[in-house]
Amino acid sequence: MSSSLKQTLAIIKPTAVTQRHTGDIIACIEKEGFRLKVLKMTEMSVKDGKSFYAEHAERHFFEELYQYISSGKVVVMVLEKENAIADFRKLIGATDPKQALAGTIRNKFGMDTSDNAIHGSDSPESAAREISFFFPSREVAG
Ligand code: RTP
Ligand code: MG
Repeated sequence: MSSSLKQTLAIIKPTAVTQRHTGDIIACIEKEGFRLKVLKMTEMSVKDGKSFYAEHAERHFFEELYQYISSGKVVVMVLEKENAIADFRKLIGATDPKQALAGTIRNKFGMDTSDNAIHGSDSPESAAREISFFFPSREVAG
């Protein structure tokens, strides 16, 4: 992989999958120049949810968060692009869909702060951890 290309991890969250927004969300992502490197539909267990979101263990919304992410099917993707992590955070928009700018994925498909359609890694360290969480055999490029 070219050294300027970076990877990030995205999760289309349960409500967006149930509401059949998966195709539209992937279209937004590809239109923005991200290349899909690997994709799977899966269901996270409660244990997976707690472990994936461990950094939020002390937050008041932690239980709601891990219960929600393990409540249905999710679509997990590794995405590649120059400046992937920051550009993807920009494309998904603010955590609260009501604060997310027009045209962002959370503005278009999010319901509320807990149920905000999509996850994106927030740093290179998170991206590396999250990619190996879902795809342990995959080489993680920096
Ligand atoms: P994400 O990790 O899912 O990409 O979202 P984010 O960085 O924008 O937000 P973060 O602070 O990391 O929070 C992780 C997820 O926790 C839920 N949340 N609920 N009820 C609440 O006050 C609250 N705050 C955050 C959201 O699902 C958020 O995406
Ligand atoms: Mg986050």
